Amino acid sequence: MNSLPKIIIDTDPGQDDAAAILMAFGLDNLNIIQLQALTCVAGNVPLPLTQKNARIICDWANRQDMSVYQGADRPLLKPLFTAENVHGKNGLDGVVLHEPKTPLQSQHAAVFLAETLSQAADHSISICPIGPLTNIALALRLNPECVSGIKEIVIMGGTFFETGNVTPLADFNFFVDPIAAQIVLQSGVPIRIVPLDVTHKACLSEKRINALRALPNQNGKRLADILQSYERFDIQQFGLDGGPLHDPCAIACAVYPQWFTQKEVYVEINTHSGIAEAACSVDWHGKSGKKPNVSWCYQIDDEAFFEQFTQAIAALP
Ligand code: BDR
Ligand code: CA
Repeated sequence: MNSLPKIIIDTDPGQDDAAAILMAFGLDNLNIIQLQALTCVAGNVPLPLTQKNARIICDWANRQDMSVYQGADRPLLKPLFTAENVHGKNGLDGVVLHEPKTPLQSQHAAVFLAETLSQAADHSISICPIGPLTNIALALRLNPECVSGIKEIVIMGGTFFETGNVTPLADFNFFVDPIAAQIVLQSGVPIRIVPLDVTHKACLSEKRINALRALPNQNGKRLADILQSYERFDIQQFGLDGGPLHDPCAIACAVYPQWFTQKEVYVEINTHSGIAEAACSVDWHGKSGKKPNVSWCYQIDDEAFFEQFTQAIAALP
């Protein structure tokens, strides 16, 4: 029996999503994880582009066998808000894109998740949502019993100590669909959150991009080009030295939680519109008396992370 960690990535590629998916394929090649499927959601760009980009990334990794599903084309209640200003018009700025060969599965991503997780062995699959949480919330609503198959949900999203990257208080993923985020957080499933508090401590640098570019494979150079184009936004906006590797941090946290300093806390997402929409109320000192529902990451061993990230990319074609 194969006991490697089984992971499903729910994604809205997105340049840092591409880095996360390529990292996961590399970890799969190294026999560290078993990547089960990619489920796509509208987010950084609209759904027709996120599902297409996910399939292009599978082609890059020479993994046309990977099952790719498309799910929600918009948030549960709000209109879709996208981030072409960061990721470019087609979501993967920095490289020339081709027509993908990896097929798109016909089943809706939320139906696939609900069915697969309810039929899986108890607590056997980790879900890494690295986009808005719409598909995950829909799956939990479609079949609440699917929680039995989930080991944990490791979410890239939210922020508490850092300012937001879309509004003063909100990160993009929670801002796009705060109601979905709140549904997932209230589901009772074990949840780790990898917020901006952590991802802003896992930034690119010239040295790190050069290390990717120096790899003797195509994907190292390709990813270096994508990430070089990606990081200009955060450097300008936050004065960071390099772009934060948001989404790869969630994959790392699912596989190497020991690299992340975490605290069990109660968290609620503000679902009301206004300047504080999608803000995370994180009960850091247990003032609410409510039972913690989240393990909140706030520090990262970024050297260990980046070393493994680079090794994973090196294991690709
Ligand atoms: C998140 O927003 C998106 O633009 C990135 O892909 C990442 O998932 C960071 O807030
Ligand atoms: Ca993303």
